Amino acid sequence: MSGEKIEKLAGLIAGSRNIVVFTGAGVSTESGVPDFRSPGGIWDRFDPREMTFQKFVSSEESRRRYWDLFRVTYREFRGVEPNPAHLAIAELEKRGRLSAVITQNVEELHQKAGNSPEKVLELHGTMWKIRCLDCAANYPWTEAYKLLEQGKIPENCPECGGLFKPATIAFGQQLPVRTLEEAQERSRSCDLFISIGSSLVVYPAAFMPQLAKEAGAALVIVNREPTPFDDIADLVIHGQAGDTMKSAVELAGQN
Ligand code: APR
Ligand code: ZN
Repeated sequence: MSGEKIEKLAGLIAGSRNIVVFTGAGVSTESGVPDFRSPGGIWDRFDPREMTFQKFVSSEESRRRYWDLFRVTYREFRGVEPNPAHLAIAELEKRGRLSAVITQNVEELHQKAGNSPEKVLELHGTMWKIRCLDCAANYPWTEAYKLLEQGKIPENCPECGGLFKPATIAFGQQLPVRTLEEAQERSRSCDLFISIGSSLVVYPAAFMPQLAKEAGAALVIVNREPTPFDDIADLVIHGQAGDTMKSAVELAGQN
């Protein structure tokens, strides 16, 4: 990966006080967990067409498949630690340069790395909570995981009879409105928007880099592979999130 591009990113960071960092599953692969669309990713092992919200609410068989995805990912994500990319992003907050982290990820590694929860906008929810779809009653993960290991799934909500579901946003499910609105506001008012480890193919999340660019922010994309937004970006770094962000934030700190 070229030093020149790292220097350019470091210069952009050093010159910005209102940075939005946007992340996808690729920011967490160096912590040892899979992303979705790389070879061997989650959508190689589970069919995303089976994981829609409509399917979840329509049949017990679909709910079992959805819960099985959680049994597998819960086991893979349990005990996973933040990697240098997460730590570099947390450092930006420490330096008072971060407006927000807008993440599509659900494993809360940004918070674990040191970003304040109120600075992390989780567009696709969190896997660490289970709620009733009707009354939002909570269900403890540990209980659910024991059931899943026995091949069972959580019964309906004892309060209202509603369905329990992990608090992640499934395809076709409404994103949390306030979080989405805040993500749009932050994207429109930042001076630097850095997208890290996202294929930028899922909407409305993928609107964020566009909003930022249209509002005059510098757009940087850090991703192992090309994305549909590379041609409108001011800087594209096809490299590893960890090395790239660690080097750029360290270099920026010396300015
Ligand atoms: N460094 C840089 N880029 C990486 C790394 C890494 N260590 N590891 C993976 N990548 C890149 C991949 O090349 C890929 O382009 O990160 C991108 C991850 O893309 P996806 O797997 O599509 O993940 P994401 O963009 O977060 O998906 C968005 O889709 O399935 C839904 O709800 C799910 O939130 C998810 C959404
Ligand atoms: Zn309920």
